Amino acid sequence: MIYITGDCHGEFRRFNTRIFPEQNGMTKDDYVIICGDFGGVWNKDEESKMETHNLDWLEDKPFTTLFVSGNHENFDRLNKYPIEKWHGGKIQRIRPSVIHLMRGQIFELEGKKIFSFGGASSHDIDGGILELDDPNFKRKKKNLDKGWRPYRINHLSWWKEELPSEEEMEEGRRNLMDNNHKVDFIVTHCAASSTAALLGQGLYKPDLLTDYLEEIRQTVKFKKWFFGHYHDNRNVNAEEILLWEQMIRIS
Ligand SMILES: [Fe+2]
Repeated sequence: MIYITGDCHGEFRRFNTRIFPEQNGMTKDDYVIICGDFGGVWNKDEESKMETHNLDWLEDKPFTTLFVSGNHENFDRLNKYPIEKWHGGKIQRIRPSVIHLMRGQIFELEGKKIFSFGGASSHDIDGGILELDDPNFKRKKKNLDKGWRPYRINHLSWWKEELPSEEEMEEGRRNLMDNNHKVDFIVTHCAASSTAALLGQGLYKPDLLTDYLEEIRQTVKFKKWFFGHYHDNRNVNAEEILLWEQMIRIS
């Protein structure tokens, strides 16, 4: 079985047995995929007690948890986990069965090919990105707090790696080419530019990642594309599905 869901932001209540009783029939060879903003690796420098508890709790679940990155992940920490090959693509293990699916990879699970590409631009940064070592940090923060303007702090609540590198995008193109531009499922955090435009009616500006995903949307044959980021549950069309707390079975 493969289930899929949207942003968690470090809050995994939806996976408890009462809300998700289907897990009773699952084993570690069954999967739950999170479309980014996993949030289980978020705290500065090292696992907080809460994180250790949550990650161990997920590890104790009968299924294997998979996630692509969102924009709300601590990339300083995430990037330190060793990389290994798993089911055809590159992963990082946060726990033996809590696994980060890296960008631009194609995994084969239950006979289905899944292309993964995490990341997204943060929307909630209207007030800008503050630097902790800025001598005016306190003053700037106070002004933003006073004006209720959303901002983020570099290496504390924002990381430039929320957007992919050229290498990650190239690796994705190469892997898709090796698979004749055909997969069963695409799992991302944000949507392709045209899909995001439809969703936000002009609210969401295109960026290098949504443009890259647009290229993939135009050139790759896929059955379904699942994404999160926009905090809603909605079928944009027959193929592209926005998920938040909803969990659906895809295999
Ligand atoms: Fe989110």
